Amino acid sequence: MEYRIIMIGCGTVGQGFLEILERKAEQLLDQYDFEPRIVAITDKLKGSVVAPEGLNISKILYRLKEGQRLNTYDGPKIKTEEFLDPLNLIEQVEAEILAELTYTNLKTGEPATSYIKKALRTGKHVVTSNKGPAALHYHELKELASVNHLQFRIEGTVMSGTPVFHLVENGLAGNDIREIKGILNGTTNFILTKMENDQMEYEEALKLAQELGYAEADPTADVEGFDAVAKAVILANVLMGGKIKPEEVKRQGISALKRKDILEAKEAGQRFKLIARIKKDGSRIEVSVSPEKIPISDPLAGVMGVQNALTFETDLMGEITIQGAGAGRIETGFSILSDILAISRTRSKTKN
Ligand code: HSE
Repeated sequence: MEYRIIMIGCGTVGQGFLEILERKAEQLLDQYDFEPRIVAITDKLKGSVVAPEGLNISKILYRLKEGQRLNTYDGPKIKTEEFLDPLNLIEQVEAEILAELTYTNLKTGEPATSYIKKALRTGKHVVTSNKGPAALHYHELKELASVNHLQFRIEGTVMSGTPVFHLVENGLAGNDIREIKGILNGTTNFILTKMENDQMEYEEALKLAQELGYAEADPTADVEGFDAVAKAVILANVLMGGKIKPEEVKRQGISALKRKDILEAKEAGQRFKLIARIKKDGSRIEVSVSPEKIPISDPLAGVMGVQNALTFETDLMGEITIQGAGAGRIETGFSILSDILAISRTRSKTKN
């Protein structure tokens, strides 16, 4: 089945997604009867291109790698200005799916939230890895999708393509989840690992995390816990029916931790981790993010470097821990593919 996809934003995640489509085209068609057609891309820095017949992905990737603008694409396309207004583009271009891949704004969720609303109001499913809209407006967007018989999917917002929402929705369906705790920020876990294993001080480890591209543009979001708070709020609201706002979460970052604290914990058979905790007690949901000393025997204590992990405490299965990438070009690009494939599975069942 063919799917017309509009991409808003074509940075790291968007290019990772395109690389996967290029690499996997044959497999996706053979195994899943899935044929993506990218009909429009617009990016604040790279320009725009609209091609109702579908873009040649290899040509687009080549242009992006060469630093050329999208409107220099020389395949069949509609003649466009260099930059198109994303809201007009979403409204006017016919497509089944919007992939919203613009930058995360944890204060307002904009402009992504407006793009998502426009897509849902003009008959398009939405997939996104953008934490802003999911952390601030999840219920409103889900409701808008539902009244329009559409899907709003957000797998990549927590632990990139590591299946968190798909796991709960499918494999764990039927369980009550009582508590979720985990390591949701790769930058801080990398810093804590370097401080323990490589005798680095906090500042030195942070600098290395920035050089390696793990940290957010403003690393305060990582080290002071705001990024983990956003992800914890998404988990609370999506998986436990919460109505939590980020500012209600008890938050403490890792910037005050010294190497000596980490080594003392190690001597005592413990390890510092920045733990996000979401606990359900009847109808009450408590969310916190703070550095915790956990016993070395806890599965979360063994999660080192940029890896993320989550432990679900369930009524039927006890504790289940998943570990995997929390960021990355291909890993987050995969989250977009996995959400689109989920849409294609339900669409082929209902044939709508
Ligand atoms: N800066 C984030 C992290 C990226 O370090 O986990 C993924 O959201």
